Amino acid sequence: MSAKRKKEYDFVIVGSGIAGLSFALKVAQEGHRVAIFTKKDKAESNTNYAQGGIAAVTSAGDDLDKHVRDTLEAGDGLCDPKVVEEILRDGPDRIRDLIDLGVAFSSLEDGSLSLGKEGGHSERRVLHVKDLTGKAIEDALLASIAKEGVDLFEHFFAIDLITANKARKLGVRIKGKEDHVLGLYLYDANNERVVTVSAPAILLATGGAGQTYLYTTNPSIATGDGIAMASRSGLSVTNLEFIQFHPTAFHSLEGDRFLITEAVRGEGAKLIDSKGRPFLKKYHPLADLAPRDVVARAIDREMKRSGSPFVRLDTPNMKVDFPKRFPNVYENCLNRGVNPVETPIPVVPAAHYTCGGIPTKLNCSTQLDGLYACGEVACTGLHGANRLASNSLLEAVVMAHRGAEAVCEFLDNRQKERIQLPEWVDGDVPASDERVVLSHNLDELKRTMWDYVGIVRSTRRLERAQSRIKNLGREINEYYWNARVDLSLLEVRNLVCVADLIIRSALRRKESRGLHYTLDYPDLVETPENTVVRSVKR
Ligand code: FAD
Ligand code: SIN
Repeated sequence: MSAKRKKEYDFVIVGSGIAGLSFALKVAQEGHRVAIFTKKDKAESNTNYAQGGIAAVTSAGDDLDKHVRDTLEAGDGLCDPKVVEEILRDGPDRIRDLIDLGVAFSSLEDGSLSLGKEGGHSERRVLHVKDLTGKAIEDALLASIAKEGVDLFEHFFAIDLITANKARKLGVRIKGKEDHVLGLYLYDANNERVVTVSAPAILLATGGAGQTYLYTTNPSIATGDGIAMASRSGLSVTNLEFIQFHPTAFHSLEGDRFLITEAVRGEGAKLIDSKGRPFLKKYHPLADLAPRDVVARAIDREMKRSGSPFVRLDTPNMKVDFPKRFPNVYENCLNRGVNPVETPIPVVPAAHYTCGGIPTKLNCSTQLDGLYACGEVACTGLHGANRLASNSLLEAVVMAHRGAEAVCEFLDNRQKERIQLPEWVDGDVPASDERVVLSHNLDELKRTMWDYVGIVRSTRRLERAQSRIKNLGREINEYYWNARVDLSLLEVRNLVCVADLIIRSALRRKESRGLHYTLDYPDLVETPENTVVRSVKR
């Protein structure tokens, strides 16, 4: 951004993953001035690391009803069936859009699409670009938005929304009484200052919150910022107890959890115990291709039973040309000292996907006028209590298309009002003075979430976690209000907020459903509801 501290756009997007980029492209194509702000390098996103692919009905043997059924089954009674049907129905059209943008999905020798299979899918329907699907999509979208003239600002961290209610409290005169979006504050990391950006409509496309946990497949950007921002603006968030643990991340002593795509099991690999025996049949009729919640819990159980810190994925007995089909996984395993063609891969579950988030309608609108949410940060009702594999890239691209239409209509009908936004006021203590406290708090937060709010929960563990996170929250907030902000302080503040929301959601659910399994309430309740929680003001 130029030296000017304030910029004006019709539409501001936070985040440059599949959701933000797809949205930007469509709104810019309608002639609106669009800016994307992203907190690290432009490609750094969960999207960029997606391996397995994108699920959609594209083959003759498959149909919408089957995809709907599999999604509802995985979601364990908490999906919104209307939402499931609408989103999945749009899938094939959005796949065509991606192909038109240049995404070269892998194909078979006869030229037809190569379709992978993952847990919970009754058919082969996962389109992929080898095992680098996310990168191929991210690259194609980045190239397209550049051609469309979208302004993309890297290393700008969205701190908080500026809403009409917030501005009124600070003495700004604004017509009417309703709350709506006016703009946002962003931390410009290169220049170490906060800028104010005004916009009548804002999209949160900030992705998930895997970094709340000690072990995660997510890159470092996934700190739940959008959920925390929305929540601090008074929005409620939903179903955050449903954190999906991917069953198979590479086990390393360093704690790095590189994903081993479920598509490897789709091509025949089996999970084996410490004695080399396959064990999933004991847990589900679909065995290694059961829904993820079932497989992750089964692994957890086997590890506890045997005392081994990992189970193994029997790749040497697969019939596929591993290096050709999974070049990314192959190379990453070799770099970690395991050749999957010769040796089974040691794997453990790791936090992977945030099923809950900011509730949105089917046009991405939220409870706050002018605020939209799309992608992993949002909760549309598609995933319910457990996301079906490879439905998230699909959800993001379908919802971006629908949301872009709604935003264009909103922008065309809006009342134009020039408002002087309240300036950001910085504290005077450099955040870097307390770096050691921040990193200690971050370690404690991640470990607490991993130990007490993981795959198997109990009320006692959740309450223990809640009390620790509350203490951390008090400390961080006290510090935040005096500090000159920086990236690590802003991220820890958001992680504490999201951890608290996850725990409170988990405590509210008095049953075991999908990804939320608690020893105190092992059964399902008859009429399940979505959990709704709000941020606690400190
Ligand atoms: P992201 O792609 O995570 O993008 C979020 C963006 O927001 C980033 O650019 C980030 O830097 C930016 N951001 C965040 N906070 C801020 C802030 N405060 N200020 C400014 N910018 C901010 N799903 C599938 O469907 N199929 C798969 O095969 C698959 N494989 C996966 C493999 C891995 C290793 C992982 C981690 C996930 C996988 N998923 C897969 C899930 C899927 O990748 C994500 O759900 C999806 O990419 C989310 O897209 P998004 O645009 O919502 O968020
Ligand atoms: C994977 O490739 O196993 C991840 C797919 C997903 O999370 O949807």
